[in-house]
Amino acid sequence: MYNSFDNPGLVKVLRFLQTHDTEYLSGQDLSDVLRISRVAVWKHIKKIQELGYTVESKQKLGYKLTSNSDTLFPWEITLGLKTKVIGQQAYYYDSIDSTQNQALKMADDPTNNGTIIIATKQTEGKGRSGRKWVSPKGGIWFSIILHPKFDISITTLFPIASALALAITLEKTFKISPELRWPNDLTIKGKKIAGMLVDVSLESNRIENLVLGVGINFNVDVKQIEKIFKGSSNFYGVASLSEQKNKVSPIQLVQTFLVEFEKIYNLLNTKQTKKIISEWTKRSSTIGKNVELDTSDGKIKGKAIKIDDDGALVVTNNNKNIRIIAGDIIHS
Ligand code: BTN
Repeated sequence: MYNSFDNPGLVKVLRFLQTHDTEYLSGQDLSDVLRISRVAVWKHIKKIQELGYTVESKQKLGYKLTSNSDTLFPWEITLGLKTKVIGQQAYYYDSIDSTQNQALKMADDPTNNGTIIIATKQTEGKGRSGRKWVSPKGGIWFSIILHPKFDISITTLFPIASALALAITLEKTFKISPELRWPNDLTIKGKKIAGMLVDVSLESNRIENLVLGVGINFNVDVKQIEKIFKGSSNFYGVASLSEQKNKVSPIQLVQTFLVEFEKIYNLLNTKQTKKIISEWTKRSSTIGKNVELDTSDGKIKGKAIKIDDDGALVVTNNNKNIRIIAGDIIHS
C-alpha cells in the first residue's frame, strides 16, 4: 500500500525528475538541491524505477526521467488536484479484496473525510444488490469516504448525482456522451461502462458517513466479463473505454472526476438538487422508456416519466404513478 503522505523523499525526487525531464541530473545535483544524501537519492531512484517509471541513468551525466507511470499512485492523484477536500488524501493498493471494504474500515475517522482508496485490481469486488463486481487489472476501481452535511432524504439521489459527475467527466475527457441508466449506471450504446455503489452508515436518522464506490471499465476484456455474467438477471452487456478513439490517462480521468464530483457534492450539501435532476434527465436513457421491475410485491411495469426530487423513479401505468426508490429495472 502507498499513500499520498508517507513518502516525502521519494516524491521530492520524482517531482524534480518530472519537472526537469529534458536534462540529465547528476546524483550530486539532486542531493544538493533536494538536501538529501546521495545514497538516499540513489535509493529513491531505484524505487521509482521499480514502480514502473523509466529513469535513464548515464555515467557522468546522471539521471533523466523518460516516461511516467500510468499507475494510479496516490502522489499522482493529489498532484495539482483542483479540489478542496475530495481526493486530497489518497491510498493506493496493487491488489485488495475491495476498496469499498477498506474505505468502510476507515470511514468513521473524521480526518478521512474526502479520502480516496484506489486499487489496480480487486479480488472480491462488490456490486449493487450483493452482486460481485469483476475487477481485473486495467479497470479503475476506487472508493471515496464522505462525511456529508446533507440529510437522509438525499440518500437515493446521491449515487444518481455521482453517476452524473462521471458522465460529465467522460464528456470532458473522452469527448463522448454516455447515457445514464437509472439508478446509477453509465452506458455507451446501451452497454455498461461504469457503476456506483453506496454504503451509508446511519446514526439515529442522521448520516454518519457514506462510502461511494466507483467502478469504471477503463481497459478491460469485455468478452471475459460477459462470459462470467451472461444469462444472469440484470445483465445487459459490458463496454470498455479502451474501445474509444480518444486516449486519456487514468490519472487525468480520476482527477477530473474528483473535481466534477466535488462540484456536485457541494450542490447536494447546499440542497441545490434541481440542477442535478435536470442535468441527469438530459442524459438519461431510462426516462421515456417502458420499464419493468421485480419487487417483493410482484412485477411493476410502466413508462418511466421522471425522477422525483429525492431521486425516486416515477413510472406511470394506467394513469397511475408509481414511485420506485431502489431496484434493478429492465428497459423494454
Ligand atoms: C454496480 O453494481 O453497478 C456497482 C459497482 C461498483 C464497483 C466499485 S469498484 C470500487 C468499489 N469497490 C467495490 O468492491 N465495489 C466498488
